[in-house]
Amino acid sequence: MRMLPDNYEQYVDQLVKEAEGVEGHLSIREMRFLSLLAAYPTAPGSILEIGSFKGRSTIILAKASKFAGDSAVYAVDPLTSPSATDPDLGGALSAKADFESNLSIHGVTDRVRFHRMTSQELAPLWSSKIRLLWIDGDHTYGGTKADFDLFHPWLEDGAIIALHDVLNIFDGPIRVFSEDILGSPHFVRVGLCGSIGWGQYSRAPQKTFSIDSTRRLLQKRILKLRNMMNLRPQKGISHFRYKFLRWQIPHELISPKEWIAGLAQSSVEQYRGSGA
Ligand SMILES: C[S@@+](CC[C@H](N)C(=O)[O-])C[C@H]1O[C@@H](n2cnc3c(N)ncnc32)[C@H](O)[C@@H]1O
Repeated sequence: MRMLPDNYEQYVDQLVKEAEGVEGHLSIREMRFLSLLAAYPTAPGSILEIGSFKGRSTIILAKASKFAGDSAVYAVDPLTSPSATDPDLGGALSAKADFESNLSIHGVTDRVRFHRMTSQELAPLWSSKIRLLWIDGDHTYGGTKADFDLFHPWLEDGAIIALHDVLNIFDGPIRVFSEDILGSPHFVRVGLCGSIGWGQYSRAPQKTFSIDSTRRLLQKRILKLRNMMNLRPQKGISHFRYKFLRWQIPHELISPKEWIAGLAQSSVEQYRGSGA
């Protein structure tokens, strides 16, 4: 099994510090985890980011994917906050100027193939296999579900799909993660880090006892949280219950070594074996 180079952790420490200076909503542990997904390819294919905002995650993906030997990452965003769940642009009409300047300051402009449009507009133009699909765009259920439906057919065997804000207040990511990823025998490894829910795709469905019980347990706990989320409890006993249910869902930072060891080895080895 390939491991990351010795200087990887040091590089990520620095990368996270740099990315913290870019306005965005990814926490430190989420940035570390996203770096790992970009740095360690589990399948051949491209990285596609849906939802760039001012470039925090774009910079992480563009930089960390150098470890994987990728020459570029793809990103799509109209940069106009078209959805009710988008971050506030503080009166500005577009995040374009900040996005471009952040990419330039961090020296990754040439490493990002950017499509300024919605993911739905990109879908009919898209024709590449994907090794990492990072969904952080329209967080409504319709928007997140459309992203999953339109792009998951492009996942390579062994690829990773990751959604942001699964444990946040939005309807889309939690429902798509629970129903379409945890509910599918094609996602053979699943987990959460912070509010990022991820799954490793397998072309052949797998239904072993251990995979099924992990998926089912997570699904059960997430469903309880989803039911509470509709109430959006801000205080009192319901608030503590909400916090408790959220805490029951494992979402701590995983070490790169542990994460790599937990991947579906058959697909990783196959990919490595193909000389890719
Ligand atoms: C939460 S922000 C993304 C944050 C970003 N990943 C980061 O690390 O800072 C959501 C972004 O999704 C974009 N967006 C909303 N609907 C979209 C769609 N249908 N396709 C692509 N991007 C979309 C918004 O313009 C907004 O910039």
